[in-house]
Amino acid sequence: MGKLRGSDFVSIKDFSPKDLQKIIVFSLDLKKKEKAGEKTKILQGKSLALVFEKPSTRTRISFEVGMYQLWGHAVVLEGAFEREDVKDVAKTLSRYVDGIVIRTFGHEKVIKLAEAATVPVINGLSDLLHPCQAMADVLTMFEQKGDVSKLTVAYVGDGNNVCNSLINAADVFNFKLKLAIPEGYDPKVTSKNASIVRDPAEAVKGADVVYADVWASMGQEKEKEKRKKIFAPYQVNAKLMKAAKPDAIFLHCLPAHRGEEVMPEVIDGPQSKVFDQAENRLHVQKAILALLLAA
Ligand code: CP
Ligand code: NVA
Repeated sequence: MGKLRGSDFVSIKDFSPKDLQKIIVFSLDLKKKEKAGEKTKILQGKSLALVFEKPSTRTRISFEVGMYQLWGHAVVLEGAFEREDVKDVAKTLSRYVDGIVIRTFGHEKVIKLAEAATVPVINGLSDLLHPCQAMADVLTMFEQKGDVSKLTVAYVGDGNNVCNSLINAADVFNFKLKLAIPEGYDPKVTSKNASIVRDPAEAVKGADVVYADVWASMGQEKEKEKRKKIFAPYQVNAKLMKAAKPDAIFLHCLPAHRGEEVMPEVIDGPQSKVFDQAENRLHVQKAILALLLAA
């Protein structure tokens, strides 16, 4: 497995479509090996720093466990930017570790860190993008439905970080993305394969995948009540799922708010694949780590 073209994974657009395909194929291979109890020591002696300015369950644990499964080591750092400049953090960490994952608010901080670091930087979520999530989403869609270029995905809700990276993924992996997003909350990214249709029922018509995320992302807590009113018609419930293909699956990056963007009957129902999707964060990130960090 050769090295990836880009040395950072700040955005899906940092890698060529060929490299992104390679990540999906490699993550399937790593997943198979892990399930078979076969040990892969490709990151033996390598260290990863995980820098967090926001909470995390999936990102933190999947990166830590992923490093462990590849015989590497992960260190978590919180509050680093409260004490010193992002460039100083980047330069210092680059002397200790072989890669850095950052989860923060403004996307500029991810860029600044990547520019100053001399080791690969992976975006573990910014206000603009969540590329590792979108890669796990593609892996999940492939496993559940096969050739993703034949799929229609309906994203219902806020045009946020998860949505932006899903649009980037639609562009690269050539699936059709229909976006049911209220005016004023449009995504910051465009693609020839993504169209804003606004109406949730219209978006899910003929969809193979229905995707939801929270209405108020981390950092938008003050807008929560206002957003609840605006996004109320964008709830994924049994009625909306019925308007999609009968065999459609439901995806959500998690954490989810039952009773808001998704009803329990959907997220806890048979069409929901959200925990396969959460699991795939581990496998896809192991592939990204191996390709960026392995000697
Ligand atoms: N989906 C996701 O990134 O989850 P966490 O916020 O728990 O990391
Ligand atoms: N849009 C959500 C995703 C969480 C994984 C947020 O940024 O809070």
